[in-house]
Amino acid sequence: MEVVIGQSAEELALYAASMVRDVVRSKDHPVLGLATGSSPLPLYTELIRAHRDEGVSFAHVSAVTLDEYVGLPPDHPQSYHEVIRQEFTRHVDIDDARVFSPDGDPARAMDAGERYEKVLSELGGVDVQILGIGTDGHIAFNEPGSSLQSRTRIKTLTDQTRSDNARFFGSLDEVPIHALTQGLDTILDARRVVLMATGQAKAQAIAAMVEGPMSASCPASVLQWHPHVTVCVDEAAASLLEHAGYYRTSFERKPSWQKW
Ligand code: GLP
Repeated sequence: MEVVIGQSAEELALYAASMVRDVVRSKDHPVLGLATGSSPLPLYTELIRAHRDEGVSFAHVSAVTLDEYVGLPPDHPQSYHEVIRQEFTRHVDIDDARVFSPDGDPARAMDAGERYEKVLSELGGVDVQILGIGTDGHIAFNEPGSSLQSRTRIKTLTDQTRSDNARFFGSLDEVPIHALTQGLDTILDARRVVLMATGQAKAQAIAAMVEGPMSASCPASVLQWHPHVTVCVDEAAASLLEHAGYYRTSFERKPSWQKW
C-alpha cells in the first residue's frame, strides 16, 4: 500500500484526482469505480473543476457505483445512484446511460448481485476504484465479518453504519436495513484503488486496515492483498498509524502509479 498523508482534504483530492485523470487520459474506454460518502467529495469537486476549467472530458468514460440501498427508488435523493449523479456525474460530460449501479428494487434484489457482476465483467472491469472507509472498517457495505472472497450481494447494515449514515436521512428509522454491495473480492478486481479518509473518527479503521492483520474484522484490510492501493489520509486519520513517519515521506515521492 502506498500511504499518503496530506495536510488537508483538498491537497489529498488533488493527489487522487491526478491518478483518476491519468486513467481517463490514457485509456480509450476507462471505467471509474465511484464511491458515495463524504470522503470522496473533494475529489469529485476537483474533477468537476478540471472538466470546467481545463476541458478534461469524461465523454468516453463508464462509471460503476460500489453499492446501493435496497428499497430506495433510483431517483430517491439518498439512493446512491442519485447521490453520485448529484455529487459528480451530472456536472461532467459523462453519459448518464454509462453510469451503472446495483438494482436496489426489492422485487429484483435476489439476483441483482449476479446481474451487477455481469455488468462489471462486460465493461472489462474497473480501472480505478475510489473508496471511502466506514468507522468500523467497512468498504462499500462490506461490514465486519464479510467474506474476503465475497462478490456483489445483499448485506444487512450494522447499527453503527446505519447510525453513521442517519445524517443523510430525516431519522435513523429512514435508513434502509439492507444494501447491495460489491464484495471484497469484487473490489480487489479493480486495477487500481484509491481510498480517501479524513478525520479522527477514521483513525482506528485506517490503522487496522494498513497495519492490522488481514481479517474479516476489518474488511478494508483485504486491500493489503491488492498490488496497487493508494491510501490518502490527513494527519488525524493517520494518527494511530505506528509507522506514520515512514509513510509521510511518500507524499514527497513521485507518485507510484506513474511507474505502474
Ligand atoms: C457508506 C458507504 C461507503 C463509505 C462510508 C463512509 O457506508 N457505503 O462506501 O465509504 O459510508 O462514508 P464517509 O466518507 O461519509 O465517512
